[in-house]
Amino acid sequence: MLMRLHFLVVWTLCNAWISCHPASAAIVNADDGPSWHKYVRAPPSRLVVPKAVLTNYTAGNVTGAAGLIDGKSVAHLTRSSNESDSPTIVLDFGQNVVGLLKISFAGSESFAKGYPGLRLIFSETKEFLAGKSDFTRSDNAQGALKIVPSGSDQIAVRPKRYDWLNQWGCEHDGQVCSDGLHGFRYMKILLDALPADAPHTSSFGHVAISSVSLEWSGYLGTPDTFTGWFECSDANLTQWWYNAAYTTEMCTDVFRANDTEPRGATSDSILGKMVIHDGPKRDRDPYMGDLAVAALTSYLTHDIQEGVRNVLEDLAQHQRDDGWIPPASINNYTLALFDYPLWWVSCSWDYVFYTGNISYIQSYYSTLLNVLDTYYPAHTDKPTSLLRRPDGYGDYAFIPRPGVAAYYNALYVLALHRAAELASILNKPDDASRWRVRAATVSMSFVGELWDGSVKAFFDRNCIGSGCTAHAQDGNSLAILAGIAPSPSNTSTSASDILDYLEKALHQRYGNSFYDTGGDGIGSEFSERVYPFISYFEIAARFRAGKIDSAFDQMRRMYGWMALQDPGITFWEGIGPGGKPYEDAFTSMAHGWSTGIVPLCMNYVLGVTPVSPGFLTWNVQPVVGDLTWAKGQVPTAQGAMSVSWSFDAGEDSVHVVVDAPAGTTGTVTMPGVPGEGNGNANGGRQTEVLLDGQVVPDGDVARRAEGGLTGVKVQGGMRHVIEFRKM
Ligand SMILES: *[C@@H]1O[C@H](CO)[C@@H](O)[C@H](O)[C@H]1NC(C)=O
Ligand SMILES: *[C@@H]1O[C@H](CO)[C@@H](O)[C@H](O)[C@H]1NC(C)=O
Ligand SMILES: *[C@@H]1O[C@H](CO)[C@@H](O)[C@H](O)[C@H]1NC(C)=O
Ligand SMILES: *[C@@H]1O[C@H](CO)[C@@H](O)[C@H](O)[C@H]1NC(C)=O
Ligand SMILES: *[C@@H]1O[C@H](CO)[C@@H](O)[C@H](O)[C@H]1NC(C)=O
Ligand SMILES: *[C@@H]1O[C@H](CO)[C@@H](O)[C@H](O)[C@H]1NC(C)=O
Ligand SMILES: *[C@@H]1O[C@H](CO)[C@@H](O)[C@H](O)[C@H]1NC(C)=O
Ligand SMILES: *[C@@H]1O[C@H](CO)[C@@H](O)[C@H](O)[C@H]1NC(C)=O
Repeated sequence: MLMRLHFLVVWTLCNAWISCHPASAAIVNADDGPSWHKYVRAPPSRLVVPKAVLTNYTAGNVTGAAGLIDGKSVAHLTRSSNESDSPTIVLDFGQNVVGLLKISFAGSESFAKGYPGLRLIFSETKEFLAGKSDFTRSDNAQGALKIVPSGSDQIAVRPKRYDWLNQWGCEHDGQVCSDGLHGFRYMKILLDALPADAPHTSSFGHVAISSVSLEWSGYLGTPDTFTGWFECSDANLTQWWYNAAYTTEMCTDVFRANDTEPRGATSDSILGKMVIHDGPKRDRDPYMGDLAVAALTSYLTHDIQEGVRNVLEDLAQHQRDDGWIPPASINNYTLALFDYPLWWVSCSWDYVFYTGNISYIQSYYSTLLNVLDTYYPAHTDKPTSLLRRPDGYGDYAFIPRPGVAAYYNALYVLALHRAAELASILNKPDDASRWRVRAATVSMSFVGELWDGSVKAFFDRNCIGSGCTAHAQDGNSLAILAGIAPSPSNTSTSASDILDYLEKALHQRYGNSFYDTGGDGIGSEFSERVYPFISYFEIAARFRAGKIDSAFDQMRRMYGWMALQDPGITFWEGIGPGGKPYEDAFTSMAHGWSTGIVPLCMNYVLGVTPVSPGFLTWNVQPVVGDLTWAKGQVPTAQGAMSVSWSFDAGEDSVHVVVDAPAGTTGTVTMPGVPGEGNGNANGGRQTEVLLDGQVVPDGDVARRAEGGLTGVKVQGGMRHVIEFRKM
């Protein structure tokens, strides 16, 4: 019976993946569940245990530390005099984790006044595991919230047997304090006391520990929780997809007063709600710009959309009278960023298109009107219609950018186009056309004011003074995604030229930097700093423009680099010179905004994008690159949508299998195949299209305007096999 079942499952899936390719057949195993399960990174349960003792850090009189891993012994830390080192144990949880540390004590003895003291030091990396945590909540706190100025969490270990949970607060009035939640991979346990904690703790005594564990606090993304999944012929890319999912899971949590960003971020309107924080260790406040990537990762992996909606709604409800929308709750919703209200617009489009919740945009339509028709017009240069950032405002990287900057304006055009689509959905054609006209005007001025024909890319800024010769990754990439380049009226501004320049000027072995220069008044490290956040938009622009090889190359350099460095798995907030964490210990080594590989693989490699809210209509246009197959599932408001494709180089054909929910329709477009320069071109050769084994007559093959791509329309509700064959 078991054998028979096993055979059946293999046969059915094999049939579903049509080509029955050895790679896909071999990885199906009925006993272990779907083949992608092995890539999932989440711990199996909310109680997480350490994986190893880093014995070379052990110091002083420590016995039985291995018992914290195998449970076979109790660990003892003993110190009786100044002659011996402070007893020290370093535990490695094996990967970055987040939550409240729990210690089961088996007893203690005091050798001096006060209980023996323990100090706990947390770090995401070994490099920054030192005398204090790499970062702890008190580091950003002022006044009463700054309870651990030492940078470590303290315990006065009582003689009885008990369990200690790392809750934010102090054992005594302002003494023996602990910061509560931590995001970390490594933790150091030190028998030691702070002078400030006298007379409650002493650095002498004996402490017995029977176990150390972590109460996981993020979203526990076990295999059964994935509503979207992905797998392809490059196991590294597949693994990084799950690494990215895990990174965003670590950031997804309930907003709580005692573990959020301490600088005025706690707000009654968001307390107790599910959100996507920026990172597990740092920020712990949801920021709008970060959601431009993290929300996509979330929609495409797990069914927890309210984590995004709660943030969109809360920030909309705090819109200022002049139309500006705060970037986050920090500083009581006053942190002055100029770009983040535009990300609110763009993220609102993503929310509506990925979830199909149109009532959301109905409810917040006046917010959209205020931001686009009141706030930004007040910061527009009249002669050019271009945005100019007001003094005192920053952006996602706090870049000094006086003058008219490409980034804000490209993002503005993207937001106007997206807002126009939302207006059309709500049947508000006047708003839609006003925003489209404005987008066209801004685009024209953008090309005229910012194009640098000498390198064939847009300047970072049109300005006088220093920094005016630089070119930046953000403005150029977004100009391509917003359709500014190639400008419909000006073929000299080519996306391909821009991307060739960026490839040459920004290339680092750990990704592409966000500026082409560190001179001329630009931050000295900018040409060596990589933001995986903004790099997502460059890679998306490469896929859009058919620069397939360089898109894959950049993904492998950047995600591959981070995956191989400490702490492994999770993707960092920023990469600095030499490929190091860009702000040393302060750097968040798990940041949702750096998880763009999830939408990149889903939207481009698998090729699935929504064309109308909730994927009622959709497009499937895979990218083959150097892969031979890919498969996955995209969660939609109508149900799961399965797509797989396989490329047969010998036959020069691509099989695409699409099983979309009933009631939906879409177009399956000819994938870009290798060896054709522009990956999306048809190479001048005739392509035969077969739908479910039948040749599709020429008249039924949609010849889409952009690039003359070949596609075929199909209905959801059943599985379709589409074969594109070169003749
Ligand atoms: C302990 O060993 C690890 C390698 O396993 C190394 O990275 C680390 O620097 C060592 N630490 C000390 C304190 O020797
Ligand atoms: C280490 O501590 C244990 C008690 O846990 C004690 O029996 C032993 O003598 C100590 N070793 C040294 C070298 O002090
Ligand atoms: C240990 O050293 C500290 C300072 O160096 C001193 O204040 C303390 O009295 C010493 N304690 C013992 C038990 O020797
Ligand atoms: C932390 O916040 C939670 C939820 O508001 C509360 O239950 C808990 O008591 C708080 N802990 C401390 C130590 O304040
Ligand atoms: C996958 O990554 C490893 C490094 O972790 C590398 O050695 C290997 O060549 C990569 N495989 C592919 C197919 O790129
Ligand atoms: C935050 O700002 C609002 C509106 O300006 C004000 O009513 C409220 O008192 C402020 N809250 C804090 C904690 O400062
Ligand atoms: C859709 O959005 C509305 C308004 O923001 C909200 O009240 C509702 O709960 C959302 N529906 C779902 C299914 O999330
Ligand atoms: C195209 O843009 C370039 C750069 O701004 C400009 O020099 C040229 O005049 C434009 N051509 C047209 C036809 O608008």
